[in-house]
Amino acid sequence: MSSINYAEKIPNNVNLVSDRTLQRALEHWQPHFLEWWKTMGPSDFQAADVYLRTAISVDAQGWAHYGAVKMPDYRWGIFLADPLPGRTIGFGDQMGEPAWQQVPGEYRSTLRRLIVTQGDTEPASVEQQRLLGHTCPSLYDLRNLFQVNVEEGRHLWAMVYLLHAYFGRDGREEAEELLARHSGDADKPRILTTFNEPISDWLSFYCFTYFTDRDGKYQLKSLAESAFDPLSRTCRFMLTEEAHHMFVGETGIGRVVKRTLEVMKELGTEDPARVRAAGAVDLPTLQKYLNFWCSSSLDLFGSEISSNSAANFAHGLKGRPDESQYEDHVLREKTMALLTPEGEQQVPMLNALNEVMRESYLRDCEIGLKRWNRQIERAGFPFRLTLPSSRFRRSIGAWAGQPVDPQGTMLSKKEYEKRLPDWIPSEADRAFVHSLQQKVVAPGKMAAWIAPPERGINNLPVEYEYVKLQ
Ligand SMILES: [Fe+2]
Ligand SMILES: [Fe+2]
Repeated sequence: MSSINYAEKIPNNVNLVSDRTLQRALEHWQPHFLEWWKTMGPSDFQAADVYLRTAISVDAQGWAHYGAVKMPDYRWGIFLADPLPGRTIGFGDQMGEPAWQQVPGEYRSTLRRLIVTQGDTEPASVEQQRLLGHTCPSLYDLRNLFQVNVEEGRHLWAMVYLLHAYFGRDGREEAEELLARHSGDADKPRILTTFNEPISDWLSFYCFTYFTDRDGKYQLKSLAESAFDPLSRTCRFMLTEEAHHMFVGETGIGRVVKRTLEVMKELGTEDPARVRAAGAVDLPTLQKYLNFWCSSSLDLFGSEISSNSAANFAHGLKGRPDESQYEDHVLREKTMALLTPEGEQQVPMLNALNEVMRESYLRDCEIGLKRWNRQIERAGFPFRLTLPSSRFRRSIGAWAGQPVDPQGTMLSKKEYEKRLPDWIPSEADRAFVHSLQQKVVAPGKMAAWIAPPERGINNLPVEYEYVKLQ
C-alpha cells in the first residue's frame, strides 16, 4: 500500500522530494493553478466548508478520507496507482516487451498530445460548471458538484505532473496553456467541442456527468493500458475518482425520473404540459437532454475510421478499454464492418478502434437507461427512455452533418431541420428547465423537481449539512 505524503507543499506519492528540479517546476506552476481555481472555479463558494473526500492512499480500500474543507485548501496533488512489478506491454506490435518508464523519442509528440487533450478536459469541466452552485437543488447536490470539481482539478494535476516530469520545456509550456484556454472562450477555447458547451442547469449537469464523464472513463481506461507506465498508473488512480462522477449523473437522472413519476401519478396523466405546470421535468424533455448530451459525447471518440487510432494502438500508446478481455491484442489480421452513408465497408480493425470504443461506451450507457425505464414501468406508464443512434447529430466522422433521426434513419435535410427541435432541447425547453432552477440550501430540503437521494454521503443522513455556507 502506498500512502500519500501530505506534509509536503505538493502532496504526492511519487517521492517528489528526491527530484528537486521537478519539485521546483511544479511549485512554480502551483500558484498559477490556485489563481485559476479562484477565478475560474466554483463562483462564490470558496469560503464555504464542504464535506469533501480526499485521497490519503491509493490502494482500493481506505483511499478516501472525509472532512470539512474550504475548497481552496483542498490538497491537490500527484497520486499514482502502485506499480505492477514486471509489467509488460499488453497490446500492439511491441506486445510482451517491458513497459516504458521513460517516453521513447519517436512517440514523444503523440504521447504529449494525448496527455494534453485529456488534461484539457479536466479544468474545462470545472469552468463549464462554475455557476451551478447558485441554483443547487440541495446541499447534498452542492457538495457532490464541488467533489466533482476538486477531483477534476486534481486530474489536471495528474496530467501536469506527466508533462513536467517527462516532457521537459515543451511539457512545462503545455502545462501553462492548460490554464490559459477556457471553456467557451472565443479566442482560446478548450480543445474538444463538448467541453465548450455551457452547463447552466442541473439537468445538464447530471447528463454531463452521466455521458461526458463516462467518455472520460473510457479514455482513461484506454490510457491505463498504455505502454508508457507513468501514464498507465496515473489513469488507474484517476478511474477510482471518476466512478463517483458517473454515480452523481446516474443517481441525479434517476431522482429526476422518480420525482416526475410521483407527479404523473398524483395528476393521473402523462401530459407533458400538466407535468410541467406541476413543476417537474416531463419525460419527453428529459429524453431531449439525453439525446443532446449523448450525441455530443459520442463525437469525443473521434472518427469511425482513423489512422491515428490505428497507429496509437500498434505503437502501444493507447489500448482498448479492458484490453485483457479481448483475445487478439495485435489486430493485424482482423477487419470490422462499418456502416457509412455510402453503405457497409470492411475496414481493418486497427482503423476502426474508435468505433469499437464507442460501441462499448454505449453498452455502458445502457445500464442507467434500463434502471430508469424499470422505474417508469413499475409506475405503470408506457413511456421508455432510449439512447439516440450513434449516427444522430454527429459532427465528427462518417456521419458528420448527415440528416439522421435519433433512430438512425436518414431523412431529407429539410425534414431533419424541421424536426430537430423535437429531438434536442429547444429554446423553450431550456427556458422551462431554467425556470425550475432555484437554490435550495436548507439542510435536507430538495428542489421540487427532484427526489431526495436514497442515502447520504459516507453513511451520513441526507439531512446532514454537507456544505456550511458562510
Ligand atoms: Fe476527470
Ligand atoms: Fe470526471
